[in-house]
Amino acid sequence: MGRLNVLSGYEVTAVLDHQTAVMQEMAAGAPLSTVLDSVVCALEELMPASRCSVLLLDQAGTLRHASAPTLPAEYSAAIDGLKPGPFAGSCGTAVHFAKPVIAVDVTTDPRWVRFRHLAASHGLRACWSSPIRCRSQVVGTFAVYHIAPYEPEPRDEELVRRFTHLASLAVEHDQASSEREARHIADIARQTAERANLAKSQFVTALSHELRTPLQAITGFTENLQTLDLSPDQRRVALDQIGLASAHILSIVDDVLDLARVEAGAIPLELRLLDAHDVIAASLDLIAPLADRRNVTIERTGPPVTVNADRRRLQQVILNLMSNAVRFSPPNSTVCIATETGADHASIHVTDHGPGIPNELLTRLFVPFDRLGADAGREGGAGLGLVLARRLTEAMDGRFELASTVGVGTQITITFGAVRAGSLAPPNC
Ligand SMILES: Nc1ncnc2c1ncn2[C@@H]1O[C@H](COP(=O)(O)OP(=O)(O)O)[C@@H](O)[C@H]1O
Ligand SMILES: [Mg+2]
Repeated sequence: MGRLNVLSGYEVTAVLDHQTAVMQEMAAGAPLSTVLDSVVCALEELMPASRCSVLLLDQAGTLRHASAPTLPAEYSAAIDGLKPGPFAGSCGTAVHFAKPVIAVDVTTDPRWVRFRHLAASHGLRACWSSPIRCRSQVVGTFAVYHIAPYEPEPRDEELVRRFTHLASLAVEHDQASSEREARHIADIARQTAERANLAKSQFVTALSHELRTPLQAITGFTENLQTLDLSPDQRRVALDQIGLASAHILSIVDDVLDLARVEAGAIPLELRLLDAHDVIAASLDLIAPLADRRNVTIERTGPPVTVNADRRRLQQVILNLMSNAVRFSPPNSTVCIATETGADHASIHVTDHGPGIPNELLTRLFVPFDRLGADAGREGGAGLGLVLARRLTEAMDGRFELASTVGVGTQITITFGAVRAGSLAPPNC
């Protein structure tokens, strides 16, 4: 129960004003140290000869200063880390017995034996400490120091009671916010783990699905070879099919392993200064047979560019982009691979005149095994090419951009930081 009648009318108004200001600070989310400083300063203002401080218990059970704006810094530092006990000054003893301790004169008070020289050297003579409680546990103390022997009057007791209570509210509010925040962080971690789990099981389902078709082909043709009396031609066809299906499985397994390593940031890269045209030429040699079969012309343009990349991985990226461009191009059309350099970048553009990709499907482009409904066909991939190309480019510190217009075509650009300034030549197809 409050005993406001021991305070003057002016003091009651001042107490209420200070309480309101502190509550507003708490509501605005001010840090606990700021709120406690306000509580301490308010009490010092109402008890002019006093110096106040708040000590809070840390995890290890020692007292630490949470607010001591007017105490000598050296004194605060010496007291910091105080262990509560029956003779631990006013604060340590107040926490130990969970009761207020009034040391009217620290030079004679037996609980101050260990600290009286320290206090005297800083001109502190009296210390009155009241426990701060939070959810009925003692969490710290509110100390009021005086420079001369001092015994509190009822008015002082009422003021200290009110401001100690206010400090308790601030600590409780802070603990509740920390707990809310911890719960929030735990919720986010749980949701992230659930999403990762779901993505993993979707990945495994898609992978099993993708492997089933070539495995079925291998099983079927092997069974035919074992049980049927096949002609030499039929045997050759069966063996070819088994070879193709095995190669397909191998390439899926290679891509899955690369993807797992690049996503874990564990792909070994040998970054070197490379002539991009060299890597493009090597890639085009490998793509030429596919382009011939599809009747697609490949055009190569642009100035020499030097990029800092891993040769094998850059070729893997270019092959993935070129094979898509050729596969999705209509017969008799042209696929262009162009280099371009600027003051601060070197780019490689792969442009086709295929069907383009509708906007609403763009978000699915980099989902493993999602072919956006395209048929894998004889020469189709498993839907890993683009995601792998993007991740590899990014692992080499490159940028991966895709622009596509339905009915016009698709352009993919990979850009690296410039190694050497060259002439600017925008792609001309
Ligand atoms: N140049 C392109 N033009 C049109 N569609 C494309 C192009 N590149 C990729 N796609 C679409 O994106 C899908 C995913 O491509 P990708 O990851 O390389 O897998 P895959 O080539 O194995 O199907 C393709 O199946 C296709 O639907
Ligand atoms: Mg592909």
